[in-house]
Amino acid sequence: MVAIRTVHLEDLPSAVEQIQKWYLHEWPAWYGPGGPGDAQSDLVNCVSTPGKLPKCLVAIDDRDQLLGTASLKFKSPGSDQYPGAWLTALLVPSKHRGSGIGTALVAAAECEAKHLTFSSIHASTTTAHSLLKRNGWAHIDAIWSSGIRLEIYRKLL
Ligand SMILES: CC(C)(COP(=O)(O)OP(=O)(O)OC[C@H]1O[C@@H](n2cnc3c(N)ncnc32)[C@H](O)[C@@H]1OP(=O)(O)O)[C@@H](O)C(=O)NCCC(=O)NCCS
Repeated sequence: MVAIRTVHLEDLPSAVEQIQKWYLHEWPAWYGPGGPGDAQSDLVNCVSTPGKLPKCLVAIDDRDQLLGTASLKFKSPGSDQYPGAWLTALLVPSKHRGSGIGTALVAAAECEAKHLTFSSIHASTTTAHSLLKRNGWAHIDAIWSSGIRLEIYRKLL
C-alpha cells in the first residue's frame, strides 16, 4: 500500500509541467491542439489565488513522486444549475490506478471545500460513479454537455 499525501499545487509548483502532460494525455479533445482547454492557464489560475477557488491538489508518495491530481473550481459542467465548489479534473495516471489514490484525492477535495466553508461539493462525471457513491456522494441529476451525458453527484460537508 502506497503512503499518499496531498498537497496544494502552489506548494509544489514543479508539478505543473507533469500535470499538464497528464491533462493532455487524458483529455486530448479538450486540452489538445485545437481544443478549447488551456492546461497551463487552468493550473496557473489555481496557484494565483491562495485561500480561494480554483485550487489544484496533488497526490504524492513518500518520495515525492507525483501520483495524481484533482481540482476544486466554481465552474464545471453543471455548475450553472448548482453553484458552489466543484470537484473537477480528477486524474490518476493509469499505472497508479486501483490503489486508492483517486479516493484519497476526493477526500482531500472534500476537506479543502469544507475548510473554505462550503457546505457541499459537487462533481459531474462519466466515469467515477462507484468511487463517489462509495464515499458518500449522492447522485442528484444528469446533464448533457457537448453530446455527452454527465451524471451529477453531491456530497454534503
Ligand atoms: C477515476 C480515477 C481518478 C480513479 O482513480 P484511482 O486511483 O484508480 O481510484 P481508487 O483506486 O481510489 O478507486 C478506483 C478503484 O480501485 C479500487 N481500489 C481502491 N483501493 C484499492 C486497492 N488498495 N487495491 C485495489 N483496488 C482498489 C476501488 O474499488 C475502485 O473501484 P471502482 O471505483 O471501479 O469501484 C482514475 O481512474 C482516472 O484518472 N480516470 C481517468 C480520468 C477520469 O475519468 N477522471 C474522473 C473525472 S470525474
